[in-house]
Amino acid sequence: METVGILGGTGPAGRGVALRLASAGYDVVLGSRDASRASEVATSLGSALGGEITGSTNESAAVCDTVVVATPWDSAIATVSPLREQLGGKIVISMVNALTREGRELLPLYPARGSMAAQLAFALPESRVVGAFHHLPAAQMQDLDSMLDADVLIFSDHAEALDQVVELVNAMPGLRAVAAGSMSLASPIEAFTAVCISINIRHKVHSYVKLAGLDK
Ligand SMILES: NC(=O)c1ccc[n+]([C@@H]2O[C@H](COP(=O)([O-])OP(=O)(O)OC[C@H]3O[C@@H](n4cnc5c(N)ncnc54)[C@H](OP(=O)(O)O)[C@@H]3O)[C@@H](O)[C@H]2O)c1
Repeated sequence: METVGILGGTGPAGRGVALRLASAGYDVVLGSRDASRASEVATSLGSALGGEITGSTNESAAVCDTVVVATPWDSAIATVSPLREQLGGKIVISMVNALTREGRELLPLYPARGSMAAQLAFALPESRVVGAFHHLPAAQMQDLDSMLDADVLIFSDHAEALDQVVELVNAMPGLRAVAAGSMSLASPIEAFTAVCISINIRHKVHSYVKLAGLDK
């Protein structure tokens, strides 16, 4: 089975994705700027999940078959750029949202190329960048008993890579993959995260995206 590395995997977003990947049987490497911190986090996530979660450096996580970028938006490019060679030819999944807080609302920021996924694709021209996981609430992702039943909108300009991420996401408990389309959709998909989080703040809930009408 393929291995998945998560850059910035020690944060809430990376932990949630790691837990659900490991539940599906994938071996996961949590990447960090500090390998010992990543090992501690990996240990805290527990064992007996099907796949194994280990903690290491971002450089080691980048050696995995598929790599997820789960750093804050303003450090994503600086994190992946030195890893361009290792990430060449691989699927790199961006879950990065560029957001800023204003009072009780989150507002989207628009990077120069319109989205963080497009920024990453520009920084990693030899990789196949796929966008996924943007709208997922980390707290429920980390709680395997939370009854999460969320949709994951997936986009890429690489059709085969998109299909592979659809398969990966559908294997993860509590998630349904929805192939949304090309990189052109990255900007609205990422920006919609600001709407999701603002609704959760306003209504004091942990809602998530689930599209109606998709089942045939
Ligand atoms: N939280 C969510 O519910 C959620 C859901 C969907 C998508 N996302 C997206 O996923 C990404 C991560 O979210 P998060 O809440 O997990 O973020 P976070 O906790 O702020 O950061 C994640 C990890 O990134 C590393 N990091 C922090 N600052 C860094 C820097 N300057 N340079 C390099 N690495 C740095 C840290 O790991 P080390 O200190 O171990 O290196 C940290 O644990 C964000 O882009 C967010 O928009 C979040």
